[in-house]
Amino acid sequence: MQTRRGNALAGMSGLDEWTFSQSDFDRIAQIAKTYFGLSLSRSKMALIQSRLGQRMKQLGLTSFAQYLERLQGPAAKDERTELLSVLTTNVTRFFREQHHFDVLRSTILPPLLKAAAAGQRVRFWSAGCSTGPEAFSLAMIILDMCPTANSLNLKILATDIDPLVITTAKTGQFPDAELGGIPQELRAKFLKGTAQSGVEEITGNVRSLITFGVLNLIDPLPFQGPFDVVLCRNVAIYFDRDTQSKVWRAFSDVMAPEAHLFIGHSEHLTGSAKADFTKAGFTMYQRLGG
Ligand SMILES: C[S@@+](CC[C@H](N)C(=O)[O-])C[C@H]1O[C@@H](n2cnc3c(N)ncnc32)[C@H](O)[C@@H]1O
Repeated sequence: MQTRRGNALAGMSGLDEWTFSQSDFDRIAQIAKTYFGLSLSRSKMALIQSRLGQRMKQLGLTSFAQYLERLQGPAAKDERTELLSVLTTNVTRFFREQHHFDVLRSTILPPLLKAAAAGQRVRFWSAGCSTGPEAFSLAMIILDMCPTANSLNLKILATDIDPLVITTAKTGQFPDAELGGIPQELRAKFLKGTAQSGVEEITGNVRSLITFGVLNLIDPLPFQGPFDVVLCRNVAIYFDRDTQSKVWRAFSDVMAPEAHLFIGHSEHLTGSAKADFTKAGFTMYQRLGG
């Protein structure tokens, strides 16, 4: 497992005088729900206190009241972005849940690449992409199967609520330690060295298939699709049931008939959109036609 920004359990904050009451936690939970659609369980209170303590230490703050002031003052928008990083994890990796990429290669991509080669529009969306390994893994398979993909009407959109991870994704550069999931033959084709030792860069042909952008999945979507494949894995897990149902509904509305949706191994389709899909494999669904 890897995390791009060292977002692991922070440990002791060093703020000995700092207190964090149940109502302070509830205030943070309310902000998280309003702005990010996140559902914070009270069982996470100690973890969140520890991470918030780290953030407050960085800012030189000594009380939660001061932190709340910052969340409401002129720096509120930027601080909410920092708070999001405190509350969520950006853990991701290349070829995570390999079985999804196997099905894409064997079954889903061949007809889509054929359609693209015949001039049709083909669109993929990695929603909640973190630093991008999911989108890069998909792009590598596509180019491996179809070296002319860049000249076709075929594109991958990759979005995340967190501008910091999107900035990292756009560099296309990763430490060697994070590249282990990429099969050797794809590494040889799609990675190149950089001036920085121990850091490699994804090749330009892979990167140019992908458009990275910041997007909050709880906001109305700013596009209509249609998408042929949507990957939203290990993201809905942070949302409460009602928010999850709204997000599945939004996906269904921008997916083409017979398009495929991939979700995380501990996630489930809920709400009205469930009726729009048929199960096509483990954590994999197909949009009904029509
Ligand atoms: C655990 S990572 C999963 C990354 C990738 N999909 C994977 O499975 O490897 C979850 C990502 O969801 C993003 N996220 C959380 N809430 C979101 C929201 N409301 N809208 C969009 N992205 C969100 C986080 O910023 C984080 O990068």
